[in-house]
Amino acid sequence: MQDFAASGKRVIPIQIDTGTAYGKPEPTSKLELAQVGKGTPMGELMRRYWHPIGMLADATETPKKVRVLGEDLILFRDKSGNPGLVYPHCAHRGASLFYGKVEEKGIRCCYHGWLFDVKGIVLSSPASPMAVKTWTKPGNLGIRCKNCTDSFGPTWGHRTRSPYCLDMNV
Ligand code: FES
Repeated sequence: MQDFAASGKRVIPIQIDTGTAYGKPEPTSKLELAQVGKGTPMGELMRRYWHPIGMLADATETPKKVRVLGEDLILFRDKSGNPGLVYPHCAHRGASLFYGKVEEKGIRCCYHGWLFDVKGIVLSSPASPMAVKTWTKPGNLGIRCKNCTDSFGPTWGHRTRSPYCLDMNV
């Protein structure tokens, strides 16, 4: 092997490549800051604030799947013009509300026809008419939902703790 230093030639030290740019230390991340799922510290903090979940044109009479803070939700606008953001499963038998039919006052499940308003309250249960009287009392069954509003261009979503909404994901 040739000894460059002894020969009087200039020696340029070369750092061994460790897989990072210019020998800088490997990047790190703090998971408690980066994770926003339900139940994580940052996720619970973020759920206290309004988030843009789409443009006004995204909330239409055709239900749309959106993912907000790692949660899959259904965004729609009832025929009265109110935006709704609900969890994707019907409170009755869990059918997907993505296939629901948007009506004047909410979204109707495609399976047995229960109608939920934008706050998740059961308005109609055609096959069991007495059920709606029981289930719309505060604290009883509904679907989980998020507050949703149009403001400054986007449609915004926010966690809500409506007394009508049962937390079905727990
Ligand atoms: S599953 Fe939705 S109404 Fe029955």
